[in-house]
Amino acid sequence: MRLNREQKRILEGKEGKILQQAMIGLVDYGTALGAEEFVPVSSAHTFFQSPKGAAQYFPPRRVQLSEKQIGEFCEELSRIRVKARTTIDPGFLDLEKWGQMGGTEISYNSARKVVDICRKTGIMANWTCIPYLVDNIPIKGEHCSWSESSALIYINSMLGARTNRDAGEASFFSALLGITPNCGMHLDENRKGTHLIDVQCALSSTSDWGSLGYFAGKAVGDGIPVFTNLKMPTVEEAKQLGAAINVPGGSAMFHIVGVTPEAPTLETAFGGNEPVGAYVFDESAKKKVHKDINHQPRGNVNMVFFGCPHLTLHEIKEIATMIEGEKVAKETRLWVMTTHSIRASAERLGYAQVIEESGGELLADGCLLTYYVYSDSKKPSLERIATDSVKQGLGARRSFGSKVFFGDTKQCVDIAINGRV
Ligand code: F3S
Repeated sequence: MRLNREQKRILEGKEGKILQQAMIGLVDYGTALGAEEFVPVSSAHTFFQSPKGAAQYFPPRRVQLSEKQIGEFCEELSRIRVKARTTIDPGFLDLEKWGQMGGTEISYNSARKVVDICRKTGIMANWTCIPYLVDNIPIKGEHCSWSESSALIYINSMLGARTNRDAGEASFFSALLGITPNCGMHLDENRKGTHLIDVQCALSSTSDWGSLGYFAGKAVGDGIPVFTNLKMPTVEEAKQLGAAINVPGGSAMFHIVGVTPEAPTLETAFGGNEPVGAYVFDESAKKKVHKDINHQPRGNVNMVFFGCPHLTLHEIKEIATMIEGEKVAKETRLWVMTTHSIRASAERLGYAQVIEESGGELLADGCLLTYYVYSDSKKPSLERIATDSVKQGLGARRSFGSKVFFGDTKQCVDIAINGRV
């Protein structure tokens, strides 16, 4: 790759070991992708769930690090300032309600350490997968380096920003250096549609948009679906669409003809190319997706989960309206997950109190999957869950062997009240 003078200095170690290793990592990454140069990025979204996790991005990679080595890494990292507006994906626990959730002091202290390092380096430790709605909102044409498949597909598709599907370490290095390899989704020619998805049925809930996404992801793999006959989605619908595409698939982008910024017409969406595949999403396709995701749905439900991706204030308001005056069944937990700034708004507006009075919990900073996989907290059973999210439904089934009910938000609220399907 061609490097400018400043980049060469960093590569030679003139700005310290951490930046040198980050530059080596990005040069290797860019070389593997066939990039010839870097492009500046002004926005990054990365993973920083624990000091140890971040330390393992750097050589010697993935080895057992001692507490002393992690401490030295944290000290050195704390002296660096990020060069892009940077946010981080959900962590392992709720920073305010960790005790109530059965968290240990060890995991709490680790999370506090992350917040402390982030404050010093300039990373915004917001722990959410919807940074594009609250703290890190790129604009059309802005070059970014984002991880988190549900988020990066949103900013490419709905906002017209430009990011590759960067792994956590690549986006972490980009945050530190303010550059990313200029290739893939940063270039016009790679942002054209590949597959046509003709929508021939009504989508009446956000979970229906998730079903469409799952169908499209299966059809296109890592291609770029172009949807026709689709109305303008709400933010919540687009969020479910993108998240679900990347459950079976690996897309960085979708187009909705006449809606998304780079698809004013069908011709523009495909950029003059012929679609390599064409599919119809109709009632029978929608039913088939429901059948695929629902897995032994009937019986007592241990957990009703909302918030994958994290909920908007509007979604929290809707759930509060549905559950007001009702009680969550005794043997069932209701978890409603969002980012802490949205929870603060929900508390101010009274939605949080309504959910909590019903017996539900409004949680922030975490994610059901990361929380269950990595946290040392005492956790409720996930034997059977109900959710309106394709990603969470399949994630829980694959990661924890859960039986899954997948349906719309109202159905899931009713299940929380009745305790069973
Ligand atoms: Fe977000 Fe976790 Fe779902 S990071 S998209 S809530 S699996």
